[in-house]
Amino acid sequence: MEKTMPLNYMSGFGSSFETEAVSGALPTGQNSPQRAPFGLFAEQLSGSAFTAPRHENRRSWLYRLRPTASHSPFRPYAGASLVRSGPFNEVPPTPNRLRWDPLPIPTEAIDFIDGLVTYAGNGNVSTQAGIAIHLYAATRSMENRVFLDADGELLIMPQEGALLIASELGRLDVRPGEIAVVPRGVRFCVELIDMAARGYVCENYGAPFRLPELGPIGANGLANARDFQFPVAWFEDRDEPTEVVQKFCGGLWTTTLDHSPLDVVAWHGTLAPYKYDLARFNTINTVSYDHPDPSIFTVLTSPSETAGTANCDFVIFPPRWMVAEHTFRPPWFHRNVMSEFMGLVHGAYDAKAGGFAPGGASLHNCMSGHGPDRESYENAVAVELAPHKIDNTMAFMFESRWAIFPTRFATETPLAQLDYDDCWSGFAKAQVPTR
Ligand SMILES: [Fe+2]
Repeated sequence: MEKTMPLNYMSGFGSSFETEAVSGALPTGQNSPQRAPFGLFAEQLSGSAFTAPRHENRRSWLYRLRPTASHSPFRPYAGASLVRSGPFNEVPPTPNRLRWDPLPIPTEAIDFIDGLVTYAGNGNVSTQAGIAIHLYAATRSMENRVFLDADGELLIMPQEGALLIASELGRLDVRPGEIAVVPRGVRFCVELIDMAARGYVCENYGAPFRLPELGPIGANGLANARDFQFPVAWFEDRDEPTEVVQKFCGGLWTTTLDHSPLDVVAWHGTLAPYKYDLARFNTINTVSYDHPDPSIFTVLTSPSETAGTANCDFVIFPPRWMVAEHTFRPPWFHRNVMSEFMGLVHGAYDAKAGGFAPGGASLHNCMSGHGPDRESYENAVAVELAPHKIDNTMAFMFESRWAIFPTRFATETPLAQLDYDDCWSGFAKAQVPTR
C-alpha cells in the first residue's frame, strides 16, 4: 500500500459528501439503480437507525467491487488479549484516584490490533451505552488484515508516531496533536508512518460524537465544522488473502477473504471517518475574572438520553492565554458527578508539577476529590498575576456521566502509581480567626 502524502480531504462536519476514485463510478439521480456503473455493488452503511431524526441521521452509500456480504463464518480471534468490553466487572470498582506511567513501546513486532490495551470503561456494548478507554503501543503496520468495531466508533489519538488509517471510505494521515474518528463498523487498516506508535483510543458505544451546542457563544468557536476533514474515495483492487478482525459484543472474531475489502470505488453520504487537528481549536475562556467550567474546552460530545449529561465528552486542554484578574489560574479543587479519564499527548499539564507524563493517564471517578497537586497550588497562590501563555501542551479528558471502572490490567500493572495520593498531601491548614 502506498503512503503518498499529502492526501486529499473534503471539509465540513455534518456535511453530505460525494466522492469517486474513478470518474463515472458514482450514480446520479438514484441511490441504487438496477445496475450501478461498472457493475459495482451498492451498499448502504447506516450509522443511525433508518428513522433517526434528520439532523442525527448518518448513512452513506458505498459502491464497491464486491458485496460485503460475501464472507465465510467468523471464528474466535485469539490475539489482542488485553482488550476488554463493558460491562466492566473484572475487579471491584474503586473510589481511589488512579494514575499510570506511560505504556512502554513493545520490543517485539506488534500491530495496532494486538497492541490495544484496555484501561477502563463503563456501560454495556449490548445496550449501546458507555465507553471503553484503550491505549495502544505498536511497532508494525497491519499487513493484509483489517479491523472493524461493531461495538462502537473509535476516536484514535496518536501520542507518539503518525498513523496512516486506510479505510473503506478513504485514507487519513493522523499525527500526534490530531485525532481520527472511525465510525462503528467501518473496516480499516492502520499503517505506521514512523518506527513506533503509541496513543489513546476512546471506543464510544453510545451516540456518535458530534459538535457540542454553542449556546450564548454564538455561531462560531470551539471546534469549527470546516476544520473537520473527510477522506476522498480510494480503493484497493487486490486479490490476496486478507484477514478481517471484528469486535462484536465484546468478543473478537476473525475470518479471511480472498481479496481486500477496502474496495469502495465511490461513495456519497454523511457517514465517514474523519480527522481533526486539535491546534485548530478556537479556545475560549474568561477575559475578566474566574474561569468557566472545563466544558468550555469540549471538542466533541456523545450525548446520552439526558440533556446536557454526556455519555462522553472529549475535552482538551490546549495552549492558551491565562488573563483572568485576581484569579487562581490552574483548575480548582473539585468533585464531580461526572467521571474523568485524562491523558497527555505532549508537554505538561498545568495542574500537575510532575508524575503526569506524556503517554500516561489518570482516572478521577465520580465524587473523587482532586485538583492541583500541592506544588502547583503553592506556586499558583504565590505567583504574580500577569497574562501568560501556557504553551507546548496538549492534555485531554474523556468525561462520562457513568463511573469509569478500571480493568484488571489497569489495577494490577506496575505502571500504576501507588503513591499518587501523595501529590495532595502536606497542605498547610487554613488559619481562621478564633471567634
Ligand atoms: Fe477534574
